[in-house]
Amino acid sequence: MADDRVNALQRVREEVGRCRLCKLGTGRASPVPGEGNPASAVMFIGEAPGFYEDRQGKPFVGPAGQLLDELLQFAGLRREEVFITNVVKHRPPGNRDPEPDELEACEGHLRAQMSAISPLVIVTLGRFSLAKFMPNVRTMREVHGRTFPYQGMLVCAMYHPAAALHQQRLRATLEQDFRALPMIIARARASRANEPANGSGPAAAPEQSAEQMPLF
Ligand code: URA
Repeated sequence: MADDRVNALQRVREEVGRCRLCKLGTGRASPVPGEGNPASAVMFIGEAPGFYEDRQGKPFVGPAGQLLDELLQFAGLRREEVFITNVVKHRPPGNRDPEPDELEACEGHLRAQMSAISPLVIVTLGRFSLAKFMPNVRTMREVHGRTFPYQGMLVCAMYHPAAALHQQRLRATLEQDFRALPMIIARARASRANEPANGSGPAAAPEQSAEQMPLF
């Protein structure tokens, strides 16, 4: 099981490395597929690699990454314990927003990572990541810190750490949201433990679209 996860994630790394499904694949210095614990209970999904990530081939290693490392401490987590990735695996030029075709091109890589890790909780960092799960949310202010069920996991919406580098007041909000993570993980763990082992329970039920799901 552990080997299956490692192998599946390794395959994603290789596929991302040679991916030319969109124009970002040819302009970047390094692919940034994501990294961390293949058996993590939590998966953090950001937006796209920036300058430092593109140089090092690792997610969240620039200023936003330093803040993410600090925020993880509020959840009692260390970077090595969790899995960190982005919706887009190659740096958009000049750190511009990812374009729709680029988000679409990377979808398969992200889904493959989610299915390999099968985390209890997905933390979306910023609006591009949240939009993968809740395309109709208009503002982060409405949803940050809240969770919704998605394919047997809980998705928890959070501001992107970079937002707190620009707006100081968001730092306290992020800290508070990260402090709540252990409780959210415990809730997701209890809910998965209660699923019938034969897979005929809620996790195997037909999907509702995430936008129709209640936030709680
Ligand atoms: N911002 C992101 O969304 N991802 C990174 O990896 C770095 C900065």
